[in-house]
Amino acid sequence: MNQKLAIDGGVPVRENKPWPGWPQVDSEEWETEIEPRMRQVYLSASEGLPGVQSKALGQGYADYTGTKYATFLPHGTDAISAAISGALDLDGFEDGGEIITTNYTFIATASAALDRRCSVAFVDIDPDNFTIDPSAVEAAITSRTRAIMAVHLGGHPANMDALNEIARKHHLKVIEDCAQAHGAESNGEKVGSLGHVGAFSFQSSKNLTSGEGGMVTTNDKNIHNLVHAFMNVGRLPEGARWEYPRLGWNYRPSEYLAALLITRLPKLEDQTDIRNANAAYLSAELKQIQGITPPSHSRWVSKHGYHLYMMRYNPEGFGGKLRGEFLRALSAEGIPSSSGYGQSLSQEGGLQRVASQYPDLIRELPCPNTEQACQESVWLFQNILLGSRQEMDQIIEAIAKIQNAWV
Ligand SMILES: Cc1ncc(COP(=O)(O)O)c(C=O)c1O
Repeated sequence: MNQKLAIDGGVPVRENKPWPGWPQVDSEEWETEIEPRMRQVYLSASEGLPGVQSKALGQGYADYTGTKYATFLPHGTDAISAAISGALDLDGFEDGGEIITTNYTFIATASAALDRRCSVAFVDIDPDNFTIDPSAVEAAITSRTRAIMAVHLGGHPANMDALNEIARKHHLKVIEDCAQAHGAESNGEKVGSLGHVGAFSFQSSKNLTSGEGGMVTTNDKNIHNLVHAFMNVGRLPEGARWEYPRLGWNYRPSEYLAALLITRLPKLEDQTDIRNANAAYLSAELKQIQGITPPSHSRWVSKHGYHLYMMRYNPEGFGGKLRGEFLRALSAEGIPSSSGYGQSLSQEGGLQRVASQYPDLIRELPCPNTEQACQESVWLFQNILLGSRQEMDQIIEAIAKIQNAWV
């Protein structure tokens, strides 16, 4: 028998119960772990330079990602700018050449490239995993191209083997935008260690957060030096205080944020495992519901980051009801979700404006898979995946209930 949907006045599957919050906070953790570290920073009277906590966090993050160097910055966007600066040896005044990236990503991927005086070519995604399609990259390369920027969207690592191969062939640099993929692995290796340089975000929604923050990882000493110079007014890591061999800016982060992240980093791996276990459980059940396509893991994915649980919705499985109606019905049942990016990034107003004023800065290749993803996606956020098994069952129950009511 069909149950009356909550959107039609029926009883919701889940009533007025909060989902796991993000970040996860509790007063015991504050008292035993965070407060002592904050106190240490405060009493040391060293809240900025020389960056003792920031350097310790960088070392910890380099160890975690299996890279040689990591530099803490105030935001993920700055981290991408610094990564580009380092990989392409740019101080930001000269024409930086072109970076090829995906058209299904957050705006910072592109704006950071433009900020470094690079032009951007937007290419399509692989519809199986929503990340940049290597064959589209190769087809887009011109004599201007200097780098490929992969985005491990939602925590699914892009096809780095294929991208690195293309880069080798065409003498390009590979930059990883890892803002949504802390802890994710490709063939057993962590993202951030898979290209020439990686950039992470610790903004408040991210799987590792200090409210705001960013990190650049690399194995290349020269890139590390240039990233450091970008971050610290042109100084080199081992340079003297009043010596500026490069032009750089002040992107030095607060020591309090580094201290907070030092306490949170050791918890990331367990949280990633919980998200993976819940996602696997959800996918096994949801793949039986016609009209829902759960996220797939490409063959190289040894660990998904699950910043997002990215499904596709097909109205045909739901009596022709459009995705917007489905999202509203799901929300009324007590399950929050999102339709994700509304359009290809290149269609966003800010980039359209750049393209019309400076046509040489933006190139858009055909992106039918991106457009389709924008139409069909339904995202659950990472904090939902920290819920209990019973809560995963509620998600499945709500989707099945909506389908029964509409078909
Ligand atoms: C894919 C992607 N790149 C870059 C960023 C920028 O990071 P931030 O907000 O820390 O500047 C974000 C998130 O905000 C993102 O999702």
